[in-house]
Amino acid sequence: MSELAILGGQPVRRRPFSPWPQYTEADARRLQEVLESRNWGGYPFPNRLADEFAGKFAACHDVRYGCCVANGTIALVAALQAAGIRFGDEVIVPAYTWDGTAAAVLFTGAVPIFADVEPDTYCLDVEAVGRAITPRTRAVMPVHLAMRFVRMDALLALAAERDLLVIEDCAHAHGGQYQGRGAGSMGDLGCFSFQSSKLVTCGEGGIVITSRLDCFEMLQSLTNCGRASLTDQFKRRVVGSNYRITEFQAALLLGQLEGLPALAQKRGRHAALLTQALSEIEGIRPLPPQPGLTRDTIYNYVFQYRPPDARLSRDAFVAALDAEGIPCDGRFYEAVYRSDLFPASAEDFPQLRLDRERPMDYRQCCCPVAERAAYEESVWLPQFLLIGDEQDVEDIARAVAKVMANREALAQAGAALEGLKSMSRAERPRLERERNY
Ligand SMILES: Cc1ncc(COP(=O)(O)O)c(C=O)c1O
Repeated sequence: MSELAILGGQPVRRRPFSPWPQYTEADARRLQEVLESRNWGGYPFPNRLADEFAGKFAACHDVRYGCCVANGTIALVAALQAAGIRFGDEVIVPAYTWDGTAAAVLFTGAVPIFADVEPDTYCLDVEAVGRAITPRTRAVMPVHLAMRFVRMDALLALAAERDLLVIEDCAHAHGGQYQGRGAGSMGDLGCFSFQSSKLVTCGEGGIVITSRLDCFEMLQSLTNCGRASLTDQFKRRVVGSNYRITEFQAALLLGQLEGLPALAQKRGRHAALLTQALSEIEGIRPLPPQPGLTRDTIYNYVFQYRPPDARLSRDAFVAALDAEGIPCDGRFYEAVYRSDLFPASAEDFPQLRLDRERPMDYRQCCCPVAERAAYEESVWLPQFLLIGDEQDVEDIARAVAKVMANREALAQAGAALEGLKSMSRAERPRLERERNY
């Protein structure tokens, strides 16, 4: 077996993987048309292309309405506001997700409560949600993470029983379906991000989808500076903001949506091949299949590093795999309550001390499955590794096998090799200037 690239050997992979984002000539044409139309902004609201896209995106996720907004974090904030979440309300979120899921709850004036995730999907554990409910709980925010869905049948039953709102964070789940139902259609509202790394992207952007007209009207008012929605049947007035997107963004999104099914199919096919190849490597565990998944949506391909001994850390494994030419990460997410991107305190967010003897102290949280995923076990491969050809898949599997076969040499070289891969995510961007997602 050849020497590892991280130790000075030849990498398995020298070619870059497929470029991301993808675009076509039709995208260039649409952008040019917007340019020449001089109708660039989000006003009049909803503007022409943004409205066309929102309608198509909603339909493809089995809901009635869609409201485009500035980004995925704002989508979550707007959805919480539209659902009527208020200062001091508790909202249950998974402990293992992008920090923005919980930050959005804080921005709304509410209190995020962390519940652990399941070991085979890394998605919210419905039993843990049940244990986290208090008299102040108003909502739960399931995140369909990476390539799996929350067990929505069980979660919806619990929410109905305990009278909770359900706001789905579908930032990873564009076009996906669980038990035949579109991502974002199962709860009261669903939120998506169109940030650069996402399966449908216009650089930055987001959307909230829903079949509830009362929420849709409120979303439009919140997004459009408090102005009444076009239907205005519920006559609710609110202090709004400007969450609108531009027509340039909407022009790109229309093309992205057209390209999604073909790319999703390719990702699904290559993910299946990769799962087969990885399952033959000792110490590597692909996520088991999820029976309820009726349409794949693979934002990152995630597998588990489960070596027979603790000699080599997951971060060192990931650093070595990356050096073999396979872009990957381990600390893609952390347990949010331990993350340096989530220094939430009652000074900044006074709701954390409302009606409590002591302010909420997130350092007391303990979600073992989330922590194991974040710091020991999970390996994340970005989706663009799966939109090329089968040679790409073979290279990934060969590189994983090579690193696993050379664990001993790597362990002897020591923890210094972990480098960026064990570094705090708040500090990383200064060292990752080339990364566009
Ligand atoms: C799970 C999850 N929720 C929310 C967001 C926030 O989206 P955005 O970056 O567009 O604000 C992201 C993406 O970054 C995400 O991955």
